Amino acid sequence: MSTAPTKKANQRLSVRDIAARKGQTPIVCITAYTAPMAGLMDDAVDVLLVGDSLGMVLYGMDSTLAVTLEMMIAHGAAVVRGSKHACVVVDMPFGTYQASPADAFKNCARVLAETGCAAVKLEGGAAMAETIAFLTARGIPVMGHVGLTPQSVHQLGGYRTRGKTDDEADGIMSDATAVANAGAFSVVIEGTVEPVARAITKSVAIPTIGIGASVACDGQVLVAEDMLGLFSTFTPKFVKRYAELGREVTSAVEAYAADVRARRFPGPAHVVTTKPKT
Ligand code: KIV
Repeated sequence: MSTAPTKKANQRLSVRDIAARKGQTPIVCITAYTAPMAGLMDDAVDVLLVGDSLGMVLYGMDSTLAVTLEMMIAHGAAVVRGSKHACVVVDMPFGTYQASPADAFKNCARVLAETGCAAVKLEGGAAMAETIAFLTARGIPVMGHVGLTPQSVHQLGGYRTRGKTDDEADGIMSDATAVANAGAFSVVIEGTVEPVARAITKSVAIPTIGIGASVACDGQVLVAEDMLGLFSTFTPKFVKRYAELGREVTSAVEAYAADVRARRFPGPAHVVTTKPKT
């Protein structure tokens, strides 16, 4: 088994490359919402996910429900412009794909055409199978998302881990199976216990990408701001903090403020001068 991500010279990873990684080197996925962040992370990962978590992380919303198609298109296009290597997947926001397969197709086609991304992600299992089959039969690659599905936060009664009871575990397994059979090229499993993630990963033919779903999945995804220490409101247990950039930002801005107040900035090195006339 190779340890390096699959990389073709000057070529983006495609959804087929990602699907082919089932049971191989784990797929590395991370969220990206902007061109500069996409550029910084692009070479290290396989998939850049423009998650609707941007509503909470960037816009300070208290859930993802108010995120709009226009927001996802603007951020999706920025991430595509800022990257060259990773496969870019854009989340479909709440209300843009649930009404009917035809409505979903119209909105997903806009996202593909206006961002240049490779695929869309949508939440839901068995209930979305007909829509996923409709989209994939018409050229729209779909990443599924089962388990804890944040757009259903009110129906689920919060963001708690799913699958601790037999009924819930069976439900998540049926959802993942339905999504895979409908033609999704991969499926995110969010917020579930290891035995459920392991059983799904063993049973479906497409790669599973876990978040809070254990190492048993075919890949992992994290919200970049969580693992970089940039989103400090709340750090879920499943997040490993790889950096404390939030602290760095605060201390850099404090140093800048102190310099301005003491008239130490701008200094001679930062001032444009005209050459004295001779
Ligand atoms: O919106 C998002 O960032 C996501 C990931 C957490 C999987 O859906």
